[in-house]
Amino acid sequence: MKLALAISGASGVRLGEQFLRYLPDTVEVHLVVSDNARTVDRFERAGLTLHSDTDIAASIASGSFGVDATAVIPCSMNTLAKIACGISDTLTTRIAAVALKEHKPLLLAPREMPLSAIALENMLKLSRLGVVIAPPVAGYYSDHDDLDAMERFFVGKWYDALGIENTLYRRWGE
Ligand SMILES: Cc1cc2nc3c(=O)[nH]c(=O)nc-3n(C[C@H](O)[C@H](O)[C@H](O)COP(=O)(O)O)c2cc1C
Repeated sequence: MKLALAISGASGVRLGEQFLRYLPDTVEVHLVVSDNARTVDRFERAGLTLHSDTDIAASIASGSFGVDATAVIPCSMNTLAKIACGISDTLTTRIAAVALKEHKPLLLAPREMPLSAIALENMLKLSRLGVVIAPPVAGYYSDHDDLDAMERFFVGKWYDALGIENTLYRRWGE
């Protein structure tokens, strides 16, 4: 599976890191970040290709590269708005546009609170186009006694939405 992950400039960059942390080695990951120099050490991982957000000519910017699934975690309201309008002026917004035009799974994890009507409208528009809108909303049925456990719940739910098998959280009824 080829997976593209973009980490945008919302609070909760750590959520993108946690998403990477638990991915099986079999997943070929393409990571888009805005500042390679700052993040390259943190994101070192076998099978990971790091792209700059300004590199519009990156492999994953083309539908022909064949990315299977795309996620933006966390997703800022700025990036959300651009994706909803079809603007693709960065690699992050371009890979989202590619996922939409190729009808491939696209998951956004918007991080903002409270949400404006504009953000809500953007999410509704994208949801109607088949985008999975999956903000990091805490669940209280699964024994999360620390932040790591709560984040495993988020990541597990995101993996579920993208068809990545996991046992990161205790499911209802288990
Ligand atoms: C400390 C800090 C925290 C921020 N947190 C959020 C956030 O949680 N959600 C959000 O939508 N924007 C947040 N912003 C604003 C975005 O960083 C800003 O809109 C930026 O233009 C997003 O750029 P990008 O969409 O290209 O990543 C934050 C900004 C700062 C400085």
